[in-house]
Amino acid sequence: MRLVEVALGERSYPIYIGQNMWHEIPQYWAERVKPGKLLLVSDETVFPLYGGQMIDGLQQAGFAVHLAVVPAGEGSKTLARAEQLYGAAIEAGLERRDLIVALGGGVVGDLAGFVAATYLRGVTFAQVPTTLLAQVDSSVGGKTAVNHSLGKNLIGAFYQPKLVWVELDTLLTLPRREYLAGAAEVIKYGVILSEALLKLLAARWQDFLAKEPELLTAVVGDCCALKAAVVTADEREEGLRAILNFGHTLGHALEAATSYSYYLHGEAVLAGMAMAVKLALGKGILQREEAAMLLELFDRVGLVPPPEALLAADVLAALKHDKKREAGRTVFILPEAIGKVRAFDDLEPEAVRQVLGSYLSGVSAGGLLRLTD
Ligand code: NAD
Ligand code: GLY
Repeated sequence: MRLVEVALGERSYPIYIGQNMWHEIPQYWAERVKPGKLLLVSDETVFPLYGGQMIDGLQQAGFAVHLAVVPAGEGSKTLARAEQLYGAAIEAGLERRDLIVALGGGVVGDLAGFVAATYLRGVTFAQVPTTLLAQVDSSVGGKTAVNHSLGKNLIGAFYQPKLVWVELDTLLTLPRREYLAGAAEVIKYGVILSEALLKLLAARWQDFLAKEPELLTAVVGDCCALKAAVVTADEREEGLRAILNFGHTLGHALEAATSYSYYLHGEAVLAGMAMAVKLALGKGILQREEAAMLLELFDRVGLVPPPEALLAADVLAALKHDKKREAGRTVFILPEAIGKVRAFDDLEPEAVRQVLGSYLSGVSAGGLLRLTD
């Protein structure tokens, strides 16, 4: 088992990462959280797979487990679903010191985290992430949210868990498409903060695809450690934390312009990262060899081609609504080298149009990945 600490003073917490750790729940959880009542929140896909082991471990740790299972998918990240979970918490008699546990991907984590942050003005919370994306990103750092009909993640809170339990065996049932979408976020950490992680992935890509246990522990552990360091330095995204949005400016715009129904989040981020690399190259801030290495790695993950009907004008319009705009200017995080990125708000609109055009025009999305383009 690998242990990564998120250092936030009295709100510090451990992330436990490993394989087949179900039987270790009683020991480690009871050390961190006083056993009492507990509301386990999961989704209809994950609960039948892992609910039994989770409940056994929690009961052995001395918790009285109550259950709330929501439909799988982004559609559950709503205030209406949160209201239903408040009802479940009230009926279970959950008090301030009791625990809400999220067992699932980023949807369940964001939803249950938001409920934990707001029910009784905040009850104890723990995350058991079961997608690669949730294990390396959404379960760490305390961002919780639900969606509004006018936009994604618009209602939320920063609320840190008491512990994160990353059972890597859960990845064995994760569909390949979801795994690859999570891989995009793994690559993101390499580009923004760690050349060593990126080189490890590039060298052992087949082992990573095969979910080789030791490699997974190292890779997921490194991602969590990198994110923990960023969150420690800038918990509420007042500066440094924005680097985690590498690839997200155009990625979010692609998701919004397709009504969040075409891309998985990581797929849109991968396209966004490829466009950011091309923008950095065009701006003359990134070496050609480094750009080539990145584009080659993106190609191995597999860039998702755009939907045929998607217009550049719709993506550019979505860019204008980006949450991270500052003083009316769109901010892009661009790589200056592998492991080093910086925020820019002075990109030429024509350069953005061109790189977007290169993605939208390629039937196989290959144009964006060619250096000569
Ligand atoms: P998800 O939670 O919808 O999970 C994807 C699908 O995989 C679901 O159908 C789920 O039921 C299924 N699944 C989950 N674990 C499984 C397993 N082990 N085996 C088989 N199937 C499994 O999606 P996600 O990609 O995990 O998360 C996306 C959400 O995360 C978005 O709402 C996004 O906004 C949010 N997010 C939050 C943060 C943050 O910092 N809080 C960061 C990134 C993304
Ligand atoms: N996923 C971006 C962040 O946690 O800041």
